Amino acid sequence: MPERPTHEALLEAVRGCRGCELHADATQAVMGSGPPGARLLVLGEQPGDREDVEGEPFVGPAGRLLDRALTDVGVDPAEVYRTNVVKHFRWSGMRGKRRIHQSPKTAHVAACAPWLRAELSVVRPQGAVLLGGTAGKAVYGSSFKVGETRGRLVDWPERLGTEHPPAWVLTTTHPSAVLRADDRDAAYDDLVADLRVAAEALSAG
Ligand code: URA
Repeated sequence: MPERPTHEALLEAVRGCRGCELHADATQAVMGSGPPGARLLVLGEQPGDREDVEGEPFVGPAGRLLDRALTDVGVDPAEVYRTNVVKHFRWSGMRGKRRIHQSPKTAHVAACAPWLRAELSVVRPQGAVLLGGTAGKAVYGSSFKVGETRGRLVDWPERLGTEHPPAWVLTTTHPSAVLRADDRDAAYDDLVADLRVAAEALSAG
């Protein structure tokens, strides 16, 4: 971990991360991406198949859906810092040409926590959007359930001792859950309704 993190220093350092075994089966580590002074940070789970290949977060189907939803609530995706709880893709087996995603274990999340801490100290976002259960549990602990807080502003927890915590957090579902939903349109509308709360908080300053 660089002593004085900058985004460039983190990009460089994460390439050598051996904090857990996930690096062995991944193509590369995927650090967050976006303007360093972004007012909004969006936190996902881990890079997927596309992200692992391209080395950029949220460039696959879930990322495209997220961008559409952000745009629908008037937030320019290019102005958002997007990152993941875990920086290496965890997968096992193949479905056609794609590798099958496996959720990270608690130990992977714990091993990766210093990267997110460093990103928060570099970006210092005003607000954070947590996408899905892994992001929620990483921040609020193992009892977190998306359904209990989604769509309303909550506080960043003190227990993490974050130096520059976001002033508010919005939790919502993960865009890949929208892609898997039986009623995709309804799930998309729910995601957009949640993100609208974050967009309003951003414009309130
Ligand atoms: N899902 C995530 O949580 N993060 C990505 O970067 C891509 C898909």
